[in-house]
Amino acid sequence: MIRFDNVTKRYPDGTVAVDGLTLEAPTGQITVFVGPSGCGKTTSLRMINRMIEPTSGRISIFGENAAALPAHELRRKIGYVIQHAGLFPHRTIIDNVATVPYLLGQDKKQARARAAELLERVGLPNHFANRYPGQLSGGQQQRVGVARALAADPPVMLMDEPFSAVDPVVREQLQDQFLQLQADLGKTIVFVTHDIDEAIKLGDQIAVMAVGGHLAQLASPIELLARPVNAFVAGFVGRDRGYRALGFAEGEVLPSHGEPTVTVGEKIPRGDPAYGDWLLVVDDADAPQGWLHLTDPPRTADDVADQESLYRGGTLAVQGGSLRAALDACLSSPSGRGVVVDETGRLQGTVKLDEVTRIIQARGLDPEGARS
Ligand SMILES: Nc1ncnc2c1ncn2[C@@H]1O[C@H](COP(=O)(O)OP(=O)(O)O)[C@@H](O)[C@H]1O
Ligand SMILES: [Mg+2]
Repeated sequence: MIRFDNVTKRYPDGTVAVDGLTLEAPTGQITVFVGPSGCGKTTSLRMINRMIEPTSGRISIFGENAAALPAHELRRKIGYVIQHAGLFPHRTIIDNVATVPYLLGQDKKQARARAAELLERVGLPNHFANRYPGQLSGGQQQRVGVARALAADPPVMLMDEPFSAVDPVVREQLQDQFLQLQADLGKTIVFVTHDIDEAIKLGDQIAVMAVGGHLAQLASPIELLARPVNAFVAGFVGRDRGYRALGFAEGEVLPSHGEPTVTVGEKIPRGDPAYGDWLLVVDDADAPQGWLHLTDPPRTADDVADQESLYRGGTLAVQGGSLRAALDACLSSPSGRGVVVDETGRLQGTVKLDEVTRIIQARGLDPEGARS
């Protein structure tokens, strides 16, 4: 656990970058510092590894006062990743990653073997090893930066906007991979970003900071979305936060009703009013394929459920998944009935919009009511 106790940083010119910060970053979790530019995120982060010394207050790392530890000893426990990776331009990728373990006394062969393994884990296969940083894309360089920070296997990782400089598609890949890696590694991570969506995606806990270096709110993503403490946080979190909160409301058992179906290629059954205007089409494994409109165009007695005339746009809700997915399934279904599948993708039944909204309201997550 990393603890800030009433930590303040006043720069020599009088700027108060961080003002009386008190919080805990729990062991094995991701704590995200988020807030607009200039609110003291980087200053807070750098005080943890003492690249910046606090003016007052105290920071402790796993119970030890950071100020009392020799800086080099402290930094051995702490990996650090920054926005533009900060790689050594004249060293190969593998040497960039192996340098720190090598300096810490591992033999060269061992250090390189470990580096190769880490590169693989961050998604950079073998053939990148002997390239130079300038020969890699921005996203690939950030992967190297993450691998390098992990090379000495530090229990703590500090990450300052590591994914901010890459395009949104690559950023999402980096985020997903980072979460997978963390699921295996369980590091104690402090992650800085100005992007609230990134904070919500990555954080176990989120510290929203306001200009002047004040902590505005410390909360889990769902608390933050559902119950921002003041107008500043509400504004920063964004207008559709209630809707996004639903993405975290998982594990709800959805009521599902039996839905008549037809298999692709089979004759369309006629004359059962239970179908209404829409008939759900499944494949041989009972996986939903799409909806067939029965009256427009009108189907004849010999019509089969052909692939071409299916409406496929709708999303599927997985039983026990998020309420957001359940809501999406209802809203995107042409029949108005949300299609529910089990984890293997087999049809369970359908759920109605008003049923999902009732669950949402019962959980205090009304997507309309939460809007600012
Ligand atoms: N070395 C410095 N000297 C004076 N002011 C600084 C220094 N570094 C940062 N600041 C100021 O401290 C505030 C917080 O900066 P910073 O921690 O970099 O914020 P963030 O990372 O949230 O953008 C800003 O007003 C910034 O201009
Ligand atoms: Mg910064």
